[in-house]
Amino acid sequence: MSDRRADTPSLASRHLLGIEGLQRSEVEAILALARQYKQGLKDGIQRTPLAGKFVALLFFEDSTRTRSSFEIAAKSLGAKVLNWSPTGSSLSKGETLLDTVKNIDATLRNMDSGGPSALVIRHRSSGAPTLVSRQVHCSVINAGDGIHEHPSQALLDAFTLQERLGSLNGKRVMILGDILHSRVARSNVHCLRLLGAKVIVSGPPTLMPAGIESLGCEWAPDFREVLGSLDALMTLRVQRERQTDSFVPSMREYAARWGIGRAVSDQLKPGAVILHPGPVNREVELASEVVDGDRSVILEQVSNGLPVRMAILEMCA
Ligand code: NCD
Repeated sequence: MSDRRADTPSLASRHLLGIEGLQRSEVEAILALARQYKQGLKDGIQRTPLAGKFVALLFFEDSTRTRSSFEIAAKSLGAKVLNWSPTGSSLSKGETLLDTVKNIDATLRNMDSGGPSALVIRHRSSGAPTLVSRQVHCSVINAGDGIHEHPSQALLDAFTLQERLGSLNGKRVMILGDILHSRVARSNVHCLRLLGAKVIVSGPPTLMPAGIESLGCEWAPDFREVLGSLDALMTLRVQRERQTDSFVPSMREYAARWGIGRAVSDQLKPGAVILHPGPVNREVELASEVVDGDRSVILEQVSNGLPVRMAILEMCA
């Protein structure tokens, strides 16, 4: 089947630049379509609504999970994929982000499809995908911009949580760690709140953005005090590459104070799950036995990335 479903819901904007600003119904529509795709993948049913279209992946920053799952998602939907990377490109000769994007757009415009249907962009600068979206005619999907947002990650996290916990209405989800530098945390706060969850944040005070409560979440200075009440614990990587200062004395001290080992994870209630967006620093934010333990849904998150990104691509492109 190659046609687009007549009933495919769409987003108010053709771009996915962040979760902030989306309606609950839009998030629910993406998750519902992702569930259909997951079932379709299990049943071996293939639909190719992007046949004849181009999707360009422009990752100005490293990625393993996000890039590969967007690539497989686009190809599974029948799209042709341009996989651009900064190494070996004219970026080293001083070409700007906008010129790079406009040149790729112009090259793909020669094709029958009339240009790329979607650009999937990861960039170290917050706001880069938004800037690009104002300059091109196709959809722009944010695959992580600086410390701003990482919407597809939040959507696959919500998808994974719903599979495990059912409706997120009233569920208590803690995001623990380097909140200050985390685009995953920001997108998740918006997404989980839209779906009715209660979001609690915790981590070293130096890694807690000022006024975090204004995003509608609660700050728990000592995460251990609320562990037993949580339905899910989302841990984050200590993002040393985004830190300009020494926010924590050492990784060893971070692990001792904020890391989750077996004894701490045992304090969670039965059925509570542990998430991490990856890449995990084993023995820093999570002990290896917790990463590989019963509560961990880390590989489920990765595998759910595929149907969720198929849904995002279909709805945007
Ligand atoms: C995250 C990212 O790059 O924002 N990883 C991911 O996309 N799965 C989180 C991180 O880098 O820590």
